[in-house]
Amino acid sequence: MSETRVTTPNLSNDDARFETRLRPPSFSEFVGQDSLKANLSVFIEAARKREEPLDHCLFYGPPGLGKTTLAHIIAHEMGTELVTTSGPVIERPYDLTGVLTNLKRGDVLFVDEIHRLSHVVEEYLYPAMEDFCVDIVLDKGPSARSVKLNLEHFTLVGATTRAGLLTSPLRSRFGVAQRLNYYVADELARIVERSAGILGVPIDPEGALEIARRSRGTPRIANRLLRRIRDFAEVIADGRITAEVAHESLLRLEVDEAGLDEMDRRIMEAVIHKFDGGPVGVKSLAVAVGEEADTIEEIYEPFLIQQGLLKRTQRGREATPAAYDYFGAGGRGRNESEEQGSLL
Ligand SMILES: Nc1ncnc2c1ncn2[C@@H]1O[C@H](COP(=O)(O)OP(=O)(O)OP(=O)(O)O)[C@@H](O)[C@H]1O
Ligand SMILES: [Mg+2]
Repeated sequence: MSETRVTTPNLSNDDARFETRLRPPSFSEFVGQDSLKANLSVFIEAARKREEPLDHCLFYGPPGLGKTTLAHIIAHEMGTELVTTSGPVIERPYDLTGVLTNLKRGDVLFVDEIHRLSHVVEEYLYPAMEDFCVDIVLDKGPSARSVKLNLEHFTLVGATTRAGLLTSPLRSRFGVAQRLNYYVADELARIVERSAGILGVPIDPEGALEIARRSRGTPRIANRLLRRIRDFAEVIADGRITAEVAHESLLRLEVDEAGLDEMDRRIMEAVIHKFDGGPVGVKSLAVAVGEEADTIEEIYEPFLIQQGLLKRTQRGREATPAAYDYFGAGGRGRNESEEQGSLL
């Protein structure tokens, strides 16, 4: 597999600690993704009633939407243990043997970035997923023998931001495959309020909604902004996040009104100015903004399309009238800091 990029953003220790603290432990606290949640709850309940392990599950979608969280929730709801690993960490098939043979019935093996498993490791996983056994080779050379080891019935939960890179044999071995979608502002506002509660930060509903609107449809970003705005609230106000405090802080943080980040803006500016609104092929666009074509397709484009700023046609990507409206004369995202004359 030629893909070697780590698409999961590198989280600082601090961020990682907060993520763990803010991670909803059960479905009742997992906001949004209603149809996914409803389906998964049925599968879990059915498996529990039959006293069987849950089928293997695959979650895919952009970063920060809750894939890892769902793996934790599944283990929690099934009352089993979660063992975590990730595609690039498993270099050789036998790196997995120990992990697999230690799993107890119903345990969840979470494989993050599953699209980055090597071909040999992937093939080693097939019988483990299907027949709950693995072959191990003893000795070397002519005396080599292979021994079949039986495994307990475990549940493999795979996560990927790059579903398109999964091979079809691997994909087809998941009984459940669910896409995670961007969250709407109301849902993100609920997530922000819940997180504020956990962090002990007083917040007004309007303050939460202001953060929600500018979080790029992503809970991870909403939680990050909340932590930053908490700092502002404590220093420039009395500690409470009101709509005004949120607004002022976001202005200082240079967060775009629609929550677009720097790369989103670069992509839109390139389509509008360098390519005259498009259509432009993703490869040319990638060169223009200095990002990989795959990353644009998998991470940036879905949000821009969902926001109605970009259109994907057979001839390439095109800016929509809404994009011209939003990026206006200067071609920068709308942000009052510009109106006030400061630089973005
Ligand atoms: N539905 C949700 N409700 C509440 N909080 C959520 C929800 N989804 C995600 N979060 C929060 O967002 C953070 C990021 O979620 P998570 O780590 O599960 O994303 P991910 O999809 O695994 O991202 P990546 O692709 O980068 O690994 C979590 O720590 C959690 O606090
Ligand atoms: Mg994750």
